[in-house]
Amino acid sequence: MKTEDLGRSKLLNLLFKPAGVAMESRLRHVLHDPVKMLTAADVKPGQTVLEVGSGTGFFTLPAARLIGDQGRLIAMEPLATYVDRLTRRVEDAGLRNVDVVQRDALATRLDTESIDRVLLFGVLPFPSLPLNRLLPEMHRILKPDGVMAVWLFPVSGWVPMAIRRSGLFTNERKRGGVYMYGRGWNDR
Ligand SMILES: C[S@@+](CC[C@H](N)C(=O)[O-])C[C@H]1O[C@@H](n2cnc3c(N)ncnc32)[C@H](O)[C@@H]1O
Repeated sequence: MKTEDLGRSKLLNLLFKPAGVAMESRLRHVLHDPVKMLTAADVKPGQTVLEVGSGTGFFTLPAARLIGDQGRLIAMEPLATYVDRLTRRVEDAGLRNVDVVQRDALATRLDTESIDRVLLFGVLPFPSLPLNRLLPEMHRILKPDGVMAVWLFPVSGWVPMAIRRSGLFTNERKRGGVYMYGRGWNDR
């Protein structure tokens, strides 16, 4: 689906416009500390990170601070209202290492093997992110030693199973509630 069509999708707008407030609530910060979760995903200074479905930026701002000035964060989100809100938040925070991009993550248009970390945080499972199309695209853009980090909300056991079955990611581990999928590390 074209990004413009996805951004106008009735399902997305219906589900996520009211959800925007909940996504930024203080209670959420207490329940799901974003810094802890990003640290579990090994988000580090200098990395190039793709965040799929950034929403209003619950993970975006802390991730941008963790990767620092030498890093680059691409925050990808199809909904125009979220893109606008997040762009403002990034500017207000004075962060220069974030590109907020209005795009469908099924076709990122990013270079092959260019990304250190893919973050799929709070976006799976979802009908507009079907794994049979999402996983090959994430695999394509990850560097050979890159990692796809997945935090599932709600917890859905079939998603890790489907990722395993895809055969695209040879390694899997779980830390602090975050699943990590690599293309080639050997430290299991
Ligand atoms: C439940 S929200 C989570 C937002 C954010 N990750 C968080 O945890 O606060 C899911 C987000 O995924 C976005 N999304 C849905 N389909 C997408 C797609 N194909 N590509 C990129 N983002 C998508 C939605 O617009 C929405 O903002």
